[in-house]
Amino acid sequence: MINVNIDADGIATLSWDMADRSQNVLNAESCQMLCDLVDEAAEDGAVKAVLMTSAKPDFIAGGDLEWLLDTSDAGVLFERVMRLHRALRKLETCGKPVAMALPGSALGGGLEVALAGHYRVAADNPEACFGLPEVTLGLLPGGGGTQRLPRLIGIQKALPLLLEGKRLKAADALKAGILHAVVAPGGEQEAARAWLRDAMLAAPSERVQQPWDAKGYKVPGGAVAAPAVQQAIMAANAMVHAKTWGNYPAPMNILSCVYEGLITDIDTGLMTEARYFAQTVLSPEAKAMIRTLFFSMGEAKKLAARPAGVPQQKYAKVGVLGAGMMGAGIAYVAAKAGLQVVLVDRSQADADKGKAYSQALLEKQAARGQATPQQAEALLARITATTDYALLAGSDIVIEAVFEDRALKAAVTAQAEAVLAPDAIFASNTSTLPIGGLAEASARPSNFIGLHFFSPVDRMPLVEVVVGKQTSAATLARSLDLVKALGMTPIVVNDARGFYTSRVFSTYVLEGLAMLAEGIAPALIENAGLQAGMPLGPLALTDEVSSELIDKIDRQTRRDLGEAYRGRPGHAVAARMVQLGRIGKKAGQGYYDYPEGGRKRLWPGLAEHFPRAAAQPGVAELVERLIAVQAVETVRCMEEGVLTTARDADVGAILGWGFPAFRGGPLSEVDKDGTAAFLARCERLAARHGERFAPPALLCSMAASGKKFYGG
Ligand code: NAI
Repeated sequence: MINVNIDADGIATLSWDMADRSQNVLNAESCQMLCDLVDEAAEDGAVKAVLMTSAKPDFIAGGDLEWLLDTSDAGVLFERVMRLHRALRKLETCGKPVAMALPGSALGGGLEVALAGHYRVAADNPEACFGLPEVTLGLLPGGGGTQRLPRLIGIQKALPLLLEGKRLKAADALKAGILHAVVAPGGEQEAARAWLRDAMLAAPSERVQQPWDAKGYKVPGGAVAAPAVQQAIMAANAMVHAKTWGNYPAPMNILSCVYEGLITDIDTGLMTEARYFAQTVLSPEAKAMIRTLFFSMGEAKKLAARPAGVPQQKYAKVGVLGAGMMGAGIAYVAAKAGLQVVLVDRSQADADKGKAYSQALLEKQAARGQATPQQAEALLARITATTDYALLAGSDIVIEAVFEDRALKAAVTAQAEAVLAPDAIFASNTSTLPIGGLAEASARPSNFIGLHFFSPVDRMPLVEVVVGKQTSAATLARSLDLVKALGMTPIVVNDARGFYTSRVFSTYVLEGLAMLAEGIAPALIENAGLQAGMPLGPLALTDEVSSELIDKIDRQTRRDLGEAYRGRPGHAVAARMVQLGRIGKKAGQGYYDYPEGGRKRLWPGLAEHFPRAAAQPGVAELVERLIAVQAVETVRCMEEGVLTTARDADVGAILGWGFPAFRGGPLSEVDKDGTAAFLARCERLAARHGERFAPPALLCSMAASGKKFYGG
């Protein structure tokens, strides 16, 4: 698994090559082996130098998360990392030069192992990334990253890498001082050997050692006590609080590791890191984030919901109907994935405008050095902007994104199907119209499906795949193949009003509007939303989607469902704002004023239309309501079969509307305290605020039998 070879010069090459895995990872076995091999290399007189590398395309992808989560004992976790620390310390202090030859990415634990070498040379591999992304999964680098990186490149330069988990390309890692050299791919081992041979010639007094073990070592850019560093740490602290509202333990603990660890020597620092690491791994936030963002998202991306037995569909040509905001975005991601795109609109000017969207994106990327003129040209050449439906012939799938109008959608469905092959798929990107109804316009409803993309399509990785009553399993499987080909993440839901994401998302904004109607101060409502961990307060979000749209959907639903429909208290607020002409951001006025060139401000007129109650609730009470209202609606979606897995519920919530990642998703939120505790919360909230909080039967039965959404 780590192959060893000692050459005539006494250079021991330790080459990682874990069997049955596409990537090398740090797990129980590989760590044990690493520790043993370090002992041997340090003690074997025949070994004069160590070269560590990988036989796989990448170096080491990081720690194995399943291994991390297999214990809830802080002592066990502490001892595990201390063992790795001792081995890496031995490696860097044993007096023998150590070089790391990195053919590809070194991330997380992989980069941390590499940092224990005296010399790091990487291949000039465009795919390779270097970084410590642990924070993005609610963790902190526990293999020495919080101690070695700032000691190597300075505290100020290390903080953003540690706190944001940014990944650098080889050239940038070289510039940052993380790598010593970048060479042509395939030459990295030879370059490392050449460096080792030189280092072996050095006199004993000049033996190579880590900067932090050298006499008189000073942290580059200043120690913790230096005024500039103090300032940087204070700024980082403030920024973390502003961004996370104290909801995420990982970045706070990373800052503590750097601050407390760099006041001491490296060995004490590593112990400090190990303590914070164990504490962070065991936090409910890390557990929730790893489950949803790593395991569940990984399953969704691998198409866990794909019906078996359907041959994989390869895509060559897609049609997009409607070159507006969504159609233009869909055309771009499809062309980027290498597909031929026919982009159809009513007039050539409209179609061209849709294609120009791709051009504008590419120009921005070119300015940032992210796309070459050749790449841009090739991508644009794949998009044909036209008014001619006949050009759709030969498309494997057509995605419809025309105005949200049933009759129009029916007309374009028939027009497209007239030229499509019988097995082509027709997908609608509708956000509100049930798929079953739209499929009535189709001559082959089993090939009809909903593919609900999110705006802006090029930045939002989620697709909500909506299965209609008549949609066939083969159509679902082949549609999922398209989502994968586009590099996006699918969730699969059954057809119902608002599907899943729009339905539950709307409960958040409507609860905020209900609070306004109760006389709760607007600023308090907005702060509660942010403290709950949502990306924007409910009033600001309503302005983004517009009160007009919320009101329109409310009226349409009332028309469709008649007496059976009960709106929410927030709907009256949206209707009132529409009456006042304050429909939202696009009109320049809503719950906020949007002064030109200035920052938005809450509209002072709200006080007149929604008079402030004398007694104001505490913010925690509002946070509870704003989260519970989404969680209970998600349980309802499970009960009604709109959703079939907790995985899709939680992945869809985080990717689709920014449900707080540290909560793991609405169903992880229910599981956190258990279904019985959540049931009690719903009953209490329902008694106080109304039936929208009333516990669904599914919740009651799960609570009665002690069941959870995850793991029984
Ligand atoms: P849009 O108004 O920006 O674009 C619609 C386009 O359809 C326009 O370019 C229009 O000229 C074109 N069109 C109208 N009649 C046509 C015809 N007969 N043939 C070809 N093209 C025709 O609308 P947007 O925002 O792109 O929405 C499109 C669809 O996507 C709607 O169903 C909407 O509900 C849905 N959607 C919108 C989201 C959003 O955030 N805007 C998010 C998810 C779905």
